[in-house]
Amino acid sequence: MKWQVVDSYEEMSSVAAEILLSAIRKTPDLVLGLPTGKTPEGMYARVVAECRRGSHCFSDVKTFNLDEYVGLSPWHPSSYSSYMKQHLFGHIDVREENINLPDGTAAWAFERHPGITHAEALELECMRYEDAIARAGSLQLTFLGLGRNGHIAFNEPGTPFDTRTRVVTLSESTKRANARYFPGGVTPDKAITMGLGTISESAAIILLASGESKREAVSRLRSGEVSPDFPASILNRHHDVRLIVDRAAAGD
Ligand code: GLP
Repeated sequence: MKWQVVDSYEEMSSVAAEILLSAIRKTPDLVLGLPTGKTPEGMYARVVAECRRGSHCFSDVKTFNLDEYVGLSPWHPSSYSSYMKQHLFGHIDVREENINLPDGTAAWAFERHPGITHAEALELECMRYEDAIARAGSLQLTFLGLGRNGHIAFNEPGTPFDTRTRVVTLSESTKRANARYFPGGVTPDKAITMGLGTISESAAIILLASGESKREAVSRLRSGEVSPDFPASILNRHHDVRLIVDRAAAGD
């Protein structure tokens, strides 16, 4: 694992944006894994600014988001689909058919299989998503944020390392941390997330962490521990991971 401690959130965002853009320059049909949350907002803003300057930035890129809330349609203002439109997809030349997020309502499954249960429809959606990643030839470069309890995507502590895309129940601490995105502060209880197994198959992974609230998780990751109690620790086993962490998160 390569560590890079930078001075500020702004520097972390610029370094991350440059990694993303140079990967696209090198591989125009890149298959990207993308996160949501506060952490990548600065990276997305820089990518948008750069892509506005040039043409053909994302025109052949395929994207797969890490997760989505169960019960929210892609048009729900608090969905990760809306987040991605607001911060990235609405401003770049990515093709609609190359954008992939789990569908938190699994609407297509109900249409195709009338009478199935909610749980069955979500299960089909998880299978469809895994299959879509496999058909794209698997993830080439994946960006991750870091939950305060060490979660990556929505893989909470205790998640086995070999998990695939599935429905998960969110921990109270994760719901509290994400409540700011929901008017009234009520976060959904469940989400569809790529599994730790799915994520760790990405050829390269960049983890971003910023701010004091991530310091404990960053220091645990630095300890070299490898345990499902701390989901991000799976990255200690991956051969191509780069961590870009600002001083506040690193505690240096
Ligand atoms: C959510 C997302 C994660 C993200 C985490 C940290 O739980 N599902 O993918 O990494 O929040 O978010 P933030 O960057 O806002 O601290």
